[in-house]
Amino acid sequence: MDIRSEVLEIISDTKEYLMLLRETGVEEIASSHRTEVRNKKQEVRQVAESGKQVTGQGADTPEQKAGRLDELRNRIGDCQRCKLWKGRKNIVFGTGNPGARLLFVGEGPGEEEDRQGKPFVGKAGELLTKMIGAMNLTRDDVYIANVIKCRPPQNRNPEEDEISACRPFLYEQIVIIDPQVICALGTFAAQTLLETRSRISELRGRVHEKRGYKIVPTFHPAYLLRNPQEKRRSWEDLQIVMQELGLKEKK
Ligand code: URA
Repeated sequence: MDIRSEVLEIISDTKEYLMLLRETGVEEIASSHRTEVRNKKQEVRQVAESGKQVTGQGADTPEQKAGRLDELRNRIGDCQRCKLWKGRKNIVFGTGNPGARLLFVGEGPGEEEDRQGKPFVGKAGELLTKMIGAMNLTRDDVYIANVIKCRPPQNRNPEEDEISACRPFLYEQIVIIDPQVICALGTFAAQTLLETRSRISELRGRVHEKRGYKIVPTFHPAYLLRNPQEKRRSWEDLQIVMQELGLKEKK
């Protein structure tokens, strides 16, 4: 990318981040966020003055990212921004390593996730854990979140207003974690992150770039449980993720 495009991208990232904060209820910028904005401005200056490219990755330590995720979780509070609060037991915010290079995004909590307040801890979660293991990683190496953070009744599909209410929080998680790759699990995650209506079967199998993030869509583990013949194609997708991260296959 040339320097001008890099500067424009940083300015646009900064604007987008400030708009996200506003959408999620931030009216004032606390000093930690001011530091973030200052860092972004400094990046712009550095790029402009030195002609060097700066990636913007890794500005925060994992501890700082953990603190910012905690702050976001507190801001979500006892959320009633959409109707799903009525039937939920727990908000399922996300778990894992705040400094992760790989972020998995699923659809929304099921019954077990709602009960435990953690993502992917039911049957689909068992398969996701195996998929992560096959990549030579553990759940502690990655971060796992969902598009919507409350369980829909009878595990029905998330509705448009529910996704719209929750999406800013997912985007903010992404900005904080700043992963090198996002693996979108299933239709809802892929369509939400890529802002498209295309089907997962059309989206999978390659790396997409959106808002400066690399996104690799694949089938949802629950779909793979029902359609085990698709596991091979899902493994191909995970190999694309591994390639992006420079990970080697298990011997
Ligand atoms: N399915 C999802 O999409 N997310 C979970 O957390 C569990 C099952």
